[in-house]
Amino acid sequence: MHIGVLKGNGIGPEITAATQRVLDATGLDIKWEDIPIADEAVTQYGHPLAPEVVRRLREAKRVIKAPLIVNKMQGRITCVQPDGSEATYPSLNNAIRRELGLFVNPRPIRGFRDVSGPFAELDIVVMREITEDVYIGLEHRIGEHAAEAIKLTTREAAVRVARYSFEYARERGRRRVSCLHKANVLNYTDGLFLRCFREVADEYPDIESDDMMIDAACYAVVRDPRRFDVVVAANQYGDIFSDLAAGLVGSLGLAPGANIGPTAAVFEASHGAAPDIAGKGIANPLALVLSGAELLATSGHPAKAARVREAVRTVIETRTALTPDLGGDATTEQLTDAVINAME
Ligand code: NAI
Repeated sequence: MHIGVLKGNGIGPEITAATQRVLDATGLDIKWEDIPIADEAVTQYGHPLAPEVVRRLREAKRVIKAPLIVNKMQGRITCVQPDGSEATYPSLNNAIRRELGLFVNPRPIRGFRDVSGPFAELDIVVMREITEDVYIGLEHRIGEHAAEAIKLTTREAAVRVARYSFEYARERGRRRVSCLHKANVLNYTDGLFLRCFREVADEYPDIESDDMMIDAACYAVVRDPRRFDVVVAANQYGDIFSDLAAGLVGSLGLAPGANIGPTAAVFEASHGAAPDIAGKGIANPLALVLSGAELLATSGHPAKAARVREAVRTVIETRTALTPDLGGDATTEQLTDAVINAME
């Protein structure tokens, strides 16, 4: 099995090493290919996401990606296209997703007994659309004291993410898909997103569907986390709602994710590069480990994926070796050892 690796920065290299150890411990013969990104790619290829890097990512097809630090207010990046034209993206993370044609970011978030308190039964998959919305980065200044951004919504992208969500729900035995939006204010953009969702929902009479305003949904998930099952949302709402859900279950370090496209998939945690704890050896690697489990599940190894997930659950619920974000004092390495022991 061939897996591309983007080690990222901040806590990236620490949690990547942990994830590679756990996936190797499943007994699969994995050929890891380190692919340079950001500064490393600049050194090697002269650009943080050089065409050569994009080509290697496309060829790898399945990639484990650790978080990347993106500088606030100056993260824009321009990539040369095969036809010589240029595309500018708001950040390196956004550029990777869009250069690879990745369109949905499923973020499964589950509570754990004894760690997640009243949210132990939370079990939500956030399906975040990742090609459009305000994150396309089409913004500009209007003089010195004003600026505006475009929020893009198209039928094609809204239908595609809705269909993916219902198919996912059907395949994984999920009962309901909820659309989160603000169509009472954003009549045209979120209105279109919601209309497309409803059209697709009609094709899946076996799956319940409903919708909720994003602000009401934030309130509802705190009050009654079991209210939600699969939720589908535009880029920004999905980004924020999934971090909220991760906070409710106890840590961003428990929220895995993937970026899925027609020909490639990049598996990454929901969290960022956590520069505040980088290099201290105390980062929680579980979100990336669980992202790796999802990679196995979608690559023909569901039993091995289940083994990793079960081991993670055992370690957390028995509080065997928890990192400080989960109230323990274990190191990244001790937590990783505990997961590997639990698998064995
Ligand atoms: P963050 O998610 O990196 O950190 C938020 C808080 O959660 C921090 O206190 C951090 O210590 C904690 N945390 C996050 N992951 C953790 C883990 N695995 N174990 C233990 N604690 C963890 O968000 P922040 O601080 O807003 O962003 C830091 C950098 O990461 C920024 O440059 C941002 O642009 C980047 N970022 C990158 C992402 C990506 O590569 N996909 C996603 C989000 C942010």
